[in-house]
Amino acid sequence: MSDRAGASPAWSPFKTGGIVLMRFRLLGAGLLAAGISALNGMPAALAQNDSPYAGGDAARGKQIFASNGCGWCHEDQGRKAGRGPQLMNTKRSDDFMANRIATGAPGRMPAFGQGLDDQGLRDLIAFIHAIRPDAG
Ligand code: HEC
Repeated sequence: MSDRAGASPAWSPFKTGGIVLMRFRLLGAGLLAAGISALNGMPAALAQNDSPYAGGDAARGKQIFASNGCGWCHEDQGRKAGRGPQLMNTKRSDDFMANRIATGAPGRMPAFGQGLDDQGLRDLIAFIHAIRPDAG
């Protein structure tokens, strides 16, 4: 909590708010994830894996990404490196990413675990996997 990142106003307001909303979209999550996988040209069945972080809602993850200020460091919605690395086309495992998001990296990335439950992490990871190059 004495982490210097905690002092930044860019994302701290969302540690207390915003997460409640996530409870409301559980029902649609599976369908959405399946749809997004199809859009990516990957059969939904293949998109399922053994990761406990599979099955998130990418659309929801996009909102969480925005509301937590992730894009301040993972620029252009994670498409390119900035203060943090590019997330698009990541080779990291879901477990690695979930851990990094939850616990941060001392002095480099704040820990978001306090404001996110497992479903929030799943949604963020689904979003990261769904990032595609900007059309423009
Ligand atoms: C203050 C800048 C900053 C913010 C805000 C931030 N990150 Fe990061 N992030 C980083 C840095 C720097 C790293 C690399 C850490 C390292 O490996 O030392 C990183 C690493 C990651 C990784 C692992 C990627 C890899 O290839 O190692 C993921 C996934 C990630 N961040 C997601 C997020 C998400 C999701 C959010 C918002 C909830 C977020 N980050 C907010 C700076 C930030």
